Amino acid sequence: MLDENARRDAQSIILPDGEVLKRERMVDKQAVTPLTLGGCSASDLADEFGTPLLVIDEDRLRGRMREFRAAFERTSRRTLVTYAGKALLVRALARLVHDEGLAVDVCSQAELETAVRAGVPAARCVLHGCYKTAADLRHAVSLGVGTIVIDHRDEIDALASAAAAQGASCRVLVRVNPGISAHTHRFVLTGAPDSKFGFPIADGQAAAAIDAARGKPELEVAGIHCHIGSQILDLSAYAIEVDALCDFLDAQAAAGRRFQMLDVGGGLGLNEDDAAGSPTPLAWADALYGALDRRPVARELELIVEPGRSLVSAAGTTLYRVGVRKRLPDGCDAIIVDGGMSDNPRPALYGARYPAAIASRPLARPSATFRVFGRHCETDLLVAGVDLPDPRPGDVLAVANTGAYTYAMSSNYNRFPRPAIVLAAAGVARLIARRETVDDVLRLDVE
Ligand code: LLP
Repeated sequence: MLDENARRDAQSIILPDGEVLKRERMVDKQAVTPLTLGGCSASDLADEFGTPLLVIDEDRLRGRMREFRAAFERTSRRTLVTYAGKALLVRALARLVHDEGLAVDVCSQAELETAVRAGVPAARCVLHGCYKTAADLRHAVSLGVGTIVIDHRDEIDALASAAAAQGASCRVLVRVNPGISAHTHRFVLTGAPDSKFGFPIADGQAAAAIDAARGKPELEVAGIHCHIGSQILDLSAYAIEVDALCDFLDAQAAAGRRFQMLDVGGGLGLNEDDAAGSPTPLAWADALYGALDRRPVARELELIVEPGRSLVSAAGTTLYRVGVRKRLPDGCDAIIVDGGMSDNPRPALYGARYPAAIASRPLARPSATFRVFGRHCETDLLVAGVDLPDPRPGDVLAVANTGAYTYAMSSNYNRFPRPAIVLAAAGVARLIARRETVDDVLRLDVE
């Protein structure tokens, strides 16, 4: 009755301190210990702040940021770890990222404003986007954004005129598309031959873009950018990327063009079946350095990386209230929780899988395997199958690894208000995004 995905979901377990392990790694823990997140009782957080609630474990998040910096700053090569804000960005989070010494990658006016109003200097921001409007570019220039990534031909003129009008100059990176075949590497999605992003290398568009940008006195072409895709678990993809980029840089060098920066994007994945077994920042750094160190053209280059998911996913847990329990016609046990695809569209969009547990007794002996549904007016399957200990209406269900691309992609589908976010550390939780109200949802309606 349960499909393969459902069976895999059932194999992870959430420990009382929020850590997620494969079930077989579980050792002698007490079944009665309730779940705590950042030292706070998950059930108490749900009572105090309501549900659905995204809880970010501050120490885990800061620890992860330090792990990234340590991995990338251990050699003499200049490196900039830049957090991809698209994964999750609210002002308090942007401040924390800046505090930890990371730069911020943004891709819209609101993401940029979030960072800047949080106190991140615009000079520490990198602006992306495959279609930035003239207004986006003027806005970025007026704030003094540190680096703007050029993605298509007309952007060169538009940015140069925005800069000229404001008497400014801009540092830019030219986003290139190495056309790495999706056939050979199925995880490589945004640098593939059919990708809309950046300038193709193969047909000369990338080289022409660099020439055009270098022809603008307002633009300083500092280097190239590439992002081959997201949720990458096989690190050999990065060696292929670096090789392709260095081939291009060799050709540029032969034409007398030298650069200071190489931005290889983000994409480090999270193993959904075994988060603790995901490739580490250190392994990612090793894969990149290994490939870069073989290439003389890359010797002096500053390396920029833009991790998003791998920084915030595991620090986030979403708490829901179980509202309904029923048996389905196919004999499966099911529960329905008070959220779903409006606060986490990833299961519906990508078939994403998450570990889940009952917050008051995460390690209690399961009574059955349950399907977890959200309450939206369609299938809204949140977790295809998870072993739970006799869940009842009123219980709090914790869904782990939800820090990235959940709140960031949330919607008001069915006019459900968006959840709140709290940052929890040392037993204290601080609200960093308040829960939307029904009035908030209606505020843009015009009579
Ligand atoms: N840099 C650029 C230019 C990007 O486009 C992205 C993600 C990143 C960095 C960060 O990638 P990450 O390290 O988070 O994989 N909504 C999808 C993910 C889309 C990612 C798009 N670009 C999801 O929920 O899986």
